[in-house]
Amino acid sequence: MRRLFIASILSLGLAASALGHSHSNQNSFGEERRRKSLGFGPAHPHAVFHSSPYQIQTNGFTSLSEDTSPFEVARLFLDDLLGSQLDASNRYKIRKDSYTDKNTGVTHIYVRQLVNGLEVADGDMNINVKDGVVLSYGSSFYNGLTPNPMALPSKFAVHPHREYCQILGDEVESRVAAFQAGQGGQIPMSSTPNHPDAHLMHLHDSNCRFQDLPYDMANADADPLDFRSALLQFMIAATPKDKVVNDILANFDGHVDKMVVTQTQHLTADYGQTLEMTVDNVPDAVSPVKARLAYIQVPTQQGPTELNLVWKFEVEMQDNWYEAAVSAVSPHRIVSVVDWASDAPFAPIPQKEATYEVFKWGLNDPTEGERTIEKENFDPLASPQGWHALPYANDPQMAGVRPKNKDQFRSTTTTWGNNVFAQENWEGQNQYIRNYRPDHQDRVFHYTYNPQPTEKSDGLAEAQKYINATVSQLFYTSNMVHDLYYRYGFDEVSGNFQQHNFGRGGAENDGVIANAQDGSGYNNANFMTPPDGQNGRMRMYLWNTAIPFRDGDLEAGIVIHELSHGLSTRLTGGPANSGCLGWGESGGMGEGWGDFLATTIRAVEGTTDYPMGAWAANRDTGIRNYIYSLDKTINPSTYKTLDKPGYWGVHAIGEVWAEILWVVTQDLIEKHGYSSTLYPPIPDTAGKVPEGDFYRPAAGKKPLVPKHGNTLAVQLVLNGMKLQPCRPSFFDARDAIIQADEILTGGENFCTLWQGFSKRGLGPDARVDGRTPWGGGIRTDGYNAPARCADSS
Ligand SMILES: *[C@@H]1O[C@H](CO)[C@@H](O)[C@H](O)[C@H]1NC(C)=O
Repeated sequence: MRRLFIASILSLGLAASALGHSHSNQNSFGEERRRKSLGFGPAHPHAVFHSSPYQIQTNGFTSLSEDTSPFEVARLFLDDLLGSQLDASNRYKIRKDSYTDKNTGVTHIYVRQLVNGLEVADGDMNINVKDGVVLSYGSSFYNGLTPNPMALPSKFAVHPHREYCQILGDEVESRVAAFQAGQGGQIPMSSTPNHPDAHLMHLHDSNCRFQDLPYDMANADADPLDFRSALLQFMIAATPKDKVVNDILANFDGHVDKMVVTQTQHLTADYGQTLEMTVDNVPDAVSPVKARLAYIQVPTQQGPTELNLVWKFEVEMQDNWYEAAVSAVSPHRIVSVVDWASDAPFAPIPQKEATYEVFKWGLNDPTEGERTIEKENFDPLASPQGWHALPYANDPQMAGVRPKNKDQFRSTTTTWGNNVFAQENWEGQNQYIRNYRPDHQDRVFHYTYNPQPTEKSDGLAEAQKYINATVSQLFYTSNMVHDLYYRYGFDEVSGNFQQHNFGRGGAENDGVIANAQDGSGYNNANFMTPPDGQNGRMRMYLWNTAIPFRDGDLEAGIVIHELSHGLSTRLTGGPANSGCLGWGESGGMGEGWGDFLATTIRAVEGTTDYPMGAWAANRDTGIRNYIYSLDKTINPSTYKTLDKPGYWGVHAIGEVWAEILWVVTQDLIEKHGYSSTLYPPIPDTAGKVPEGDFYRPAAGKKPLVPKHGNTLAVQLVLNGMKLQPCRPSFFDARDAIIQADEILTGGENFCTLWQGFSKRGLGPDARVDGRTPWGGGIRTDGYNAPARCADSS
């Protein structure tokens, strides 16, 4: 009998972009327009995250002197772990996006495995080093035999995509049968949009339409180094448009011939010896596709994993941005696919700071207060030149303009700056540079917002009347988020979004493209996060849940949720790896962090019950199953909740994670008190950050430790993201937060954190058995904190 390897193929990813999914028709956003999104890949049964230093002393690895370079520590550690029989340059590559956290002093080192000189696309390690010690590490390195570089891989190895779809299809069928039986067998699926498994069906539709790429057989003898056929076949599976599918099928060879392949000039040193290529004229792609040869790990009948030779593609489409691995040898198969889209020293320029008429920071939505005049509130650390200036060289509007000094800044009079480009996008297309945005020579962005009731058919036109106000608001909120996250450590080296990085490291030219009233949808929002150095793209939609329509740009929680996708994706697994939160528990946490941060930002002292997206959705309980609350009768979520059939989508998983973080945070607040602002104090003119009432007294020493419970929680959550491995589980992310506290405070909150996690079943005795491809399995809640915490509650 074949080994049941399928159970270990993880997958999930209901339209990851949908900010919310609810079961009410009226307010249900998934139902209105579910974005097709592929997301699955082989699991790594051998992947580990070790967060206790004693676990790391393998093979007599002893600690080194405190001032040993962290990279040297990592190299010695890798040699120790991997054995040193092979030439190191052929086994791994320390990625260039590794960095040292300025506050904690922890160096986060990202390592990509190489075999036969080729990258192993899912062979990742993250090693966290400080003072000559490896504090923790995660690894999904392949540990089987090295394949013969000359031998082509077997053509009939495991087919993860087909196995995944088989199991998912069976599950859908049995759920539908059970549901219909419960309804007296009367109700056909098509008329049950509120079926609790509707998102599972969408998952199946999205992912499983083409399990065997249709031209497999016809091209069985094709040159394995010609990837055009593999790419075209991927596009058949990826495009949401039947017209494109039919067109490709009708004229396959014609499309292959039309594709223009260009080799990029340089070797991609980060990824072994493979040449990177770009391909033009790929149907339904909106920019040239990138392609390179790599290995990927696939479960086998015999051992844990084997290596398959694949083409790795990066495909930007209208609603998706895929990183896909397709087997290089025909028959081509999609082995793994991640959608980067997720739903929900210069001369200063003397300029008058801008002002905006907005719902100010802290007001979640228009029900919480009136608009006021707020100043361009930039933080000289986070935004040294303010929000409306950027160098010519990094300005997409100035392409072709060559100033004398390439670093020369220009000031803009619109919602266009170093961190954020905000504009309308009524057409719903990908262009943004020439889209409309408010422009005022003195940067006084004060505009009317006075929507009137209309017929539903005029709702859009009515909303368009206040486009000036809404773009100004989106620009303001997005810049506030940029500055806030910066101060908690989402800076240039860790992969934040800026056009220009002020010589502080990291990859540039990746400010956030923020589209207001985007015409590509309603009742939702989404964010696409490509690797560091490429622009993030946020699309905010109108919500036709009420008359007049509600504008998601005006609900800060939704904007924060979306921008937090960029934060968590860049911090997890390193700035240059956007494939770490694709599906299952890790994809769910990608949603959960956004809800947690949005809720923490809006929260006021003493209030602990908050919905998500309630204003936009016109629904008191918001867009989640439950509002966030400490009260278990209001929000009963625990770790085991993930076993429920409705919890296969990333949003439902995320809701559980956000609730757990929320509960943990309130315990920290009880212990350390509450700060009325999450913003750290502005540095003095010498650049020193004053402690104020914000940080603990430290006499200028690092790390700076936020004094209060809510600020400390945000800091630990961000630091945890940096420590956790690629594709983290709930356990990994929890352990990373506990280790973040160990590093920041010496572990003084060890018991507070464990007790908080235990309240919602994520204590040390929590377990999961038999994970399924969609993030299922049987979970056991763990309600016990570690024994040493018994007396400390
Ligand atoms: C936006 O503001 C500009 C400048 O004040 C104005 O000319 C334009 O009519 C406004 N747009 C709308 C839709 O009100």
